[in-house]
Amino acid sequence: MSSSLPAPIPFGQPCPIRPSAETLTLLAERRSASAVTLHAPAPNADQIADLLRIASRAPDHGKLNPWRFIVMRGEGKAAYVRALEAIAAAQGQNPAALAKLSTPPLAIAVVSRVITGKIPEWEQVLSAASVCTLMLVAAQAMGFGANWITDWYAYEPEARAALGLDPDERVAGFVYLGTPSEAPLERIRPDVEALTSYV
Ligand SMILES: Cc1cc2nc3c(=O)[nH]c(=O)nc-3n(C[C@H](O)[C@H](O)[C@H](O)COP(=O)(O)O)c2cc1C
Repeated sequence: MSSSLPAPIPFGQPCPIRPSAETLTLLAERRSASAVTLHAPAPNADQIADLLRIASRAPDHGKLNPWRFIVMRGEGKAAYVRALEAIAAAQGQNPAALAKLSTPPLAIAVVSRVITGKIPEWEQVLSAASVCTLMLVAAQAMGFGANWITDWYAYEPEARAALGLDPDERVAGFVYLGTPSEAPLERIRPDVEALTSYV
């Protein structure tokens, strides 16, 4: 394996906190790419490992790792799409809805799995959401497009089984990855001041 990231910081060693103007620019301009515009090349095996390493640095109250990943590409992903197509057909669902999954060359499911104990479920689910967000940011920093989607197959029981989820697991998101064929256009952004109070 060949990573383009710095070597992992050994446990207990200081983690540097330093300004990064490039990171701020990326965050200020980050935008999801439409899933149906995502084509090859997608992150390769080394880049996927880097993405997962970055995503798994999400804040995690209790250090429980209340999430896991399912990486889907190639024939494995195609087989999952075929299983969903069969479920969709049997249920009279619109097969076109699967284009967001079938088009991108790579999908990473972030699966939320709540660990019973003293850390509230809410906080463990929030950690899984943070994992998805970090993956979006890291993908864009690598020069790829990414989109966080749930869609019906995150919830439908047969589709959940096709993904191999345990009954107490939930899809936090499917992160679709690839190279966008067109740049995403800016969307409406919130009036942050209207959403903010100061005390
Ligand atoms: C939890 C979650 C689930 C989402 N599921 C879908 C979905 O099923 N279909 C969809 O079109 N967009 C979905 N989205 C929205 C896309 O990620 C959307 O493209 C994105 O929020 C666009 O905003 P951005 O460019 O600021 O990232 C979801 C977002 C989140 C946070």
